Amino acid sequence: MKLTLSVIKADIGSIGGHICPSERLMDSVHNHVNDQSEGLLLDYYLSYTGDDIAILMTHERGPGDEKIHKLAWDAFLAGTEAAKAEGLYGAGQDLLKEAFSGNVRGMGPAVAELEFDERPNEPFLFFAADKTDPGAYNLPLYLAFADPMNTPGLMLSPGLAAGFRFVIMDVNYTEADRVIELNAPEDLYDIATLLRDTERYVVESVWSRGSGEQAAAVSTSRLHNIAGKYTGKDDPVMLVRVQKDFPATGEILEPYAIGPYVAGCMRGSHQMPLMPVQLNSGISYFDGPPVVSCAAFAMHDGKLTEPVDVFSNPFWNTVRGHVADKAIDMRRQGFFGAAMLPMSELEYTGIMKKLETLDDRFRVRD
Ligand code: 13P
Ligand code: 13P
Ligand code: MG
Ligand code: MG
Ligand code: MG
Ligand code: MG
Repeated sequence: MKLTLSVIKADIGSIGGHICPSERLMDSVHNHVNDQSEGLLLDYYLSYTGDDIAILMTHERGPGDEKIHKLAWDAFLAGTEAAKAEGLYGAGQDLLKEAFSGNVRGMGPAVAELEFDERPNEPFLFFAADKTDPGAYNLPLYLAFADPMNTPGLMLSPGLAAGFRFVIMDVNYTEADRVIELNAPEDLYDIATLLRDTERYVVESVWSRGSGEQAAAVSTSRLHNIAGKYTGKDDPVMLVRVQKDFPATGEILEPYAIGPYVAGCMRGSHQMPLMPVQLNSGISYFDGPPVVSCAAFAMHDGKLTEPVDVFSNPFWNTVRGHVADKAIDMRRQGFFGAAMLPMSELEYTGIMKKLETLDDRFRVRD
């Protein structure tokens, strides 16, 4: 049977600044989803990563479905009321439009969806990141799906031998979706040329060239394109199917041991290393560091198993220590040079006002 996995995520308020949602807020979103799920959802799972709440849903209605998206939107509206009642910071932060119109794309929440014929065994991974943006997944996806140094399956598994197709979006283009399709391995240098620019080119999806099946879906929302100003980071979600014709779980996870520098952290304006963390954990140091969580599932007839928290394995403690060292090192140089994002990203913040007032004080010497 054709099944859809939809994950829709939003920041609708948090405790103590941008740390994490409250229990009451989680409960109110949960209650809403539970009450409305009858006849719509096969199953669902709720979690948070930093201050972002993700609703993972299984159903048979296909991607972009109005009823599924409205269920999530209304759950976030209900949660926003709870957030206001508790005085949480940034209540309703990611709900940028007044009225729901068709689906949540372009309205603030992040969404990633996969539709497929369920395999007899269907393992998949659900990633959520906070204090960063969708470009954070560019490197992990490139390594996992295109580099045999990371993924021996590209050499060892016939199911992976034909390589993968990357659909990459130009997220600066606001008129419509502007995308390019590139094939690994033959377009490898072109893929790298685009993916190095994480603020402009973002992997939207990855497809098996052997089976034609979709392997990965990434949210691509850019809040400053919607709001016209800085309204928090585009904390991205991602779904990845694993095993058989796709990379193994461990091949998808390996790149997270790098702790690569990504855009985000404090005021969404810095370059800081990405830390793999446990499910349902908040942020701390310098409104960060940027964090990524991963829940592994199996599913059958749309029913999910319990999640396995992959980054809770003791292996990742060493990685977390390494990432903390990298984070502290980078912060030693404060605002200087590579520690902050380029002006093209900062121009959505209040720094433009400051530059305007300074501009009046410049004079040209004779
Ligand atoms: P199994 O033989 O346990 O299925 O493992 C294969 C595999 O995917 C290892 O990465
Ligand atoms: P969020 O997008 O997670 O709310 O981050 C906002 C921010 O600017 C933290 O410093
Ligand atoms: Mg927030
Ligand atoms: Mg967030
Ligand atoms: Mg960005
Ligand atoms: Mg955000």
